[in-house]
Amino acid sequence: CKRRGFIYQSAEIYGGLNGVYDTGHLGTLLKRNIRTAWEKSISKHGEILFMEGSLLAPSAVWEASGHVANFHDPMVDCLKCKHRYRADELDLAKPCPHCGNTAWTEVRQFNMMFKTQLGAAADNSSVAYLRPETAQAIFINFKNVYSTNRVKIPFGIAQMGKAFRNEITPKQFLFRMREFEQMELEWFCKPEQADSFFEYWSEKRHAFYANIGITPDKIRLRPHASDELAHYSKQCVDVEYEFPFGWKELEGIAHRASFDLQQHSTFSGKDLSVFDEETKTSYMPNVIESSVGVDRLFLTILFDSYREDVVEGEERVVLALHPSIAPIKAAFLPLSKKLNEPMHALYQASKNTLGIECIFDDNGSIGKRYRRQDEIGTPVCFTYDFESETDHCVTVRNRDTTKQERIALDQAVPYLQQLLHLS
Ligand code: GAP
Repeated sequence: CKRRGFIYQSAEIYGGLNGVYDTGHLGTLLKRNIRTAWEKSISKHGEILFMEGSLLAPSAVWEASGHVANFHDPMVDCLKCKHRYRADELDLAKPCPHCGNTAWTEVRQFNMMFKTQLGAAADNSSVAYLRPETAQAIFINFKNVYSTNRVKIPFGIAQMGKAFRNEITPKQFLFRMREFEQMELEWFCKPEQADSFFEYWSEKRHAFYANIGITPDKIRLRPHASDELAHYSKQCVDVEYEFPFGWKELEGIAHRASFDLQQHSTFSGKDLSVFDEETKTSYMPNVIESSVGVDRLFLTILFDSYREDVVEGEERVVLALHPSIAPIKAAFLPLSKKLNEPMHALYQASKNTLGIECIFDDNGSIGKRYRRQDEIGTPVCFTYDFESETDHCVTVRNRDTTKQERIALDQAVPYLQQLLHLS
């Protein structure tokens, strides 16, 4: 990821910050495509409004949401080397994996929210937290969004943005981070519709992953047992992916009933119920939530698309990314620097006409240039050779099959348009 400019360790030149990463050019493009795919897919299935909440929220929000009281992980320290572990991920009868000692501190509950103080006053009224999920900003703005848009229940409010959790043991690269990004949809419906919308969104969210090219056999839905349920949820199902380190949660879908709106109504003293014109009664909407991490999905996509194979006796690494997700859609490779001009013209035309990310590369042997594109998942490469000067054709090479075909120069843009399903 580093060598190709996808992801860098944050503050690397100062030794790095554990569980925090920076995103390079290709990573930024890939994340942008992930967000677009998610946004398009949820909007297809219902009326969705978007919002962007603040990253900081006052203590009252997190008391109402239950995060101050419940957002804990059990923590234990090795008495000798002081290494810290999550107690639920360790067998305390066994020696410390770091130093081999077997003496532990008591297991303590550790709240994972990052706490801070706003302004100069050091009293409790200025305590705020960096949000550990984006969802609460949606709940506390529910009435604002509902009353300032012409919208009827059922509808959804969706948000993408950063979340922060002081994970005791960040690990597995982008899987468990301290600063990450979530894409959350809170679907508001009448209580009697909630069970069927839970099924509806579970099915739609499951299907999303195959649609962006993830191997269907490696994605499954796993319902939570009742003792696994989070404090806010009545029913929950995880979309799991088969990572190299086992089946793990990629996305959570939860039936939150009216827990959040009820809690915020009680704690704020503001009525968050809605009036039903048909029955002339007020009710508290129920919420079906779907929540997935951009970074965790990014990691999933990398694992799922990574291949090593041999082409004409040479090993290559390929990212078999779905064209909609690939950071670069096409590369333009003149066979000789003497042919740069016409190839560059096609590169510019493709970028400008279709508004897509492309690469122009005239550096190194053609084989090396193909490998560079394979490794970053570029679906097709165009080459312009000396014959192109007379037959007005270019060669298109497919990343996955490595097959090459000759097409007319003026068909290159429509070819890409079709490949990328652009209108
Ligand atoms: N609002 C519900 C909620 O936040 P969650 O299961 O705690 O539920 C939802 O988180 C999703 O956010 C997870 O399925 C995962 O994709 C992502 N996520 C959670 N914690 C993460 C972390 N520490 N690092 C990266 N992604 C994380």
